[in-house]
Amino acid sequence: MQKILVTGGLGFIGSHTVVELQNEGYEVVIIDDLSNSSIDVLDKITSITGRLPEFENIDLKDQSAIQSFFKKHKNIDGIIHFAASKAVGESVEEPLKYYHNNISTLIYLLEEMSINNVSNFIFSSSCTVYGQADKMPITESAPFKPAESPYGNTKQIGEEVIYDTTKVTNLKAIALRYFNPIGAHKSANIGELPIGIPQNLIPYVTQTAMGIREQLSVFGGDYPTPDGTAVRDYIHVVDLAKAHIAALRRLIENNNKSNFEVFNIGTGKGSSVLNVIKAFEKVSGKQLNYKIVDRREGDIIEAYADTSLANTELKWKTEYNLEDALAAAWKWQQTLK
Ligand code: UFG
Repeated sequence: MQKILVTGGLGFIGSHTVVELQNEGYEVVIIDDLSNSSIDVLDKITSITGRLPEFENIDLKDQSAIQSFFKKHKNIDGIIHFAASKAVGESVEEPLKYYHNNISTLIYLLEEMSINNVSNFIFSSSCTVYGQADKMPITESAPFKPAESPYGNTKQIGEEVIYDTTKVTNLKAIALRYFNPIGAHKSANIGELPIGIPQNLIPYVTQTAMGIREQLSVFGGDYPTPDGTAVRDYIHVVDLAKAHIAALRRLIENNNKSNFEVFNIGTGKGSSVLNVIKAFEKVSGKQLNYKIVDRREGDIIEAYADTSLANTELKWKTEYNLEDALAAAWKWQQTLK
């Protein structure tokens, strides 16, 4: 049985990926520092899959703890690295926290991989590396635009650090550039756990429908898009999780075409904020209280993926659409109250 280290494995995307890994027969060890996740998720994963993954409460900024981890856990076949800070606004306020959390930890991990001869690495990147791309849908060859935030910059720098490392070690890496992950597991046992007032659209929508928030602000109604609201590519988190398995398998089976590859992971379909509201109202049967307000600073107009590279090379495609993902997010929200 192959053993996979999943850092940040109790987080939103991490926990769904652990479930899919276990479903596919991989043995999983999770590293998580619980800074933005709950230990309860471990039991939830176990109740979905029938197997308790191994768990180590380690802060990846603690280099000696990582060294001890690799001494204890021999024969790691691959690493999926989710652990990172991800709040765009917070990264502007606390840039050093972001560079430390997202870059120092990546460097420590890559160093230990080299020392311990672990070569397969999947990195959580983001479509944020493209900024406002000139052409839609966005292909992997679209250039990086100057990062809008320290968070976005850590994804650009992270990819560069990995690429440079693949040139001089036996590292083989795939960066997956996620578009907008939403939804939850169909069991409603795991999902997104936003802390405080949600910054992202879908948790704000579901909390508004629950009556936790009074009104959803739609940021901008005058964008040059079909209905004036901003367009994104919302992907079901379970589809996204499965893309990690496909990427990992590609590396383990040596099917990669170079030692550093990148793939867009989205649905290929752009949806406006108003499209999302309409779809949510349809699947939930709830009327959403919303109001169009000013644009949010730093937001781009539109971003949706050209997924053909992932479809052909990873032999992966999405199974769920926007309505499926919103229905799952709504079911999850109702379990949270
Ligand atoms: N939006 C609203 N009201 C809200 C929240 C969001 O109208 O209350 C709008 C935004 O303006 C945007 C869309 O909904 O047009 C999606 O916003 P999200 O905050 O959900 O997602 P973003 O596309 O802004 O950000 C996401 C991730 C980031 C990542 C970025 C890459 O959250 O981590 O995609 O483009 F960097």
